[in-house]
Amino acid sequence: MTRDELFVTSKLWNSEHDPKDVEPAIRSTLKDLGLDYVNLYLMHWPIASQRGEDMPSDPSKFIPLDKMPIEKTWAAMEELKTKGLAKHIGVSNFSVSKLKDLFGKCKTLPEMNQIELHPYLQQTKLVDFCLGSGLLVTAYSPLGTAASIKNLAADPAIVEIAKNHNCEPLQIVLAWNIERSVIVIPKSVHAERITENLKAAEIDLTAAEMEKVAELDKGLRENPADIFTIPGSPYTQENLWS
Ligand SMILES: NC(=O)c1ccc[n+]([C@@H]2O[C@H](COP(=O)([O-])OP(=O)(O)OC[C@H]3O[C@@H](n4cnc5c(N)ncnc54)[C@H](OP(=O)(O)O)[C@@H]3O)[C@@H](O)[C@H]2O)c1
Repeated sequence: MTRDELFVTSKLWNSEHDPKDVEPAIRSTLKDLGLDYVNLYLMHWPIASQRGEDMPSDPSKFIPLDKMPIEKTWAAMEELKTKGLAKHIGVSNFSVSKLKDLFGKCKTLPEMNQIELHPYLQQTKLVDFCLGSGLLVTAYSPLGTAASIKNLAADPAIVEIAKNHNCEPLQIVLAWNIERSVIVIPKSVHAERITENLKAAEIDLTAAEMEKVAELDKGLRENPADIFTIPGSPYTQENLWS
């Protein structure tokens, strides 16, 4: 396999938001991977913590966004693209309001927003906003998490659609996001599951089937990032996701 057959994505962690730390962070990742560039580099969260404080349990180690503005970190991300260290740059876990705020303050718009998306957390307004603004959208946990995969696979509506297509229910779960122009990145360590997941791209769902899946939305966020919204943190569930 050659380098141009691989699409490599990595992310900037919260403790590396200081603009001075952004280039060293990607260079460290590139060294670890033995690469000259990544295809896509994402700001992992709209959250900052002090240098070296990867997962603070002390809330005072988080830095509020007025002290470490996203647009300053983003300007350093733009430099990575100019220098060819990242071919594309984007964000992850950004809400509509965070994106709108950044749009007004940046030179280059993010090219991607990577967010949790599956039939039980559809985030339709956010997806429509991103696609309508020219950002691509990637669904992480597109099959739900280990805790919920079984529920999605057994959901009667999904099972019925899978019967129509003579395929596995989880392929319908992926096909639904693909049909609405969302990229999916299901992780598996099993070759047969990887093959099965890839084949989901060949399934075309009808408008009625899409509508049926749309009815399953429960607003069920399975990665609430509550490790960042501990008591005393400047980040709360409300200001993180709204
Ligand atoms: N931006 C963010 O904040 C964020 C957050 C979470 C994840 N991510 C990214 O999202 C990507 C995928 O993560 P994820 O959350 O989807 O992965 P995950 O939760 O780590 O794994 C998905 C689970 O689905 C199982 N699975 C996959 N295909 C299956 C199939 N066809 N049938 C049954 N089970 C199946 C896997 O099991 P086996 O491996 O045993 O097959 C695994 O347990 C990663 O690249 C990760 O970095 C990003």
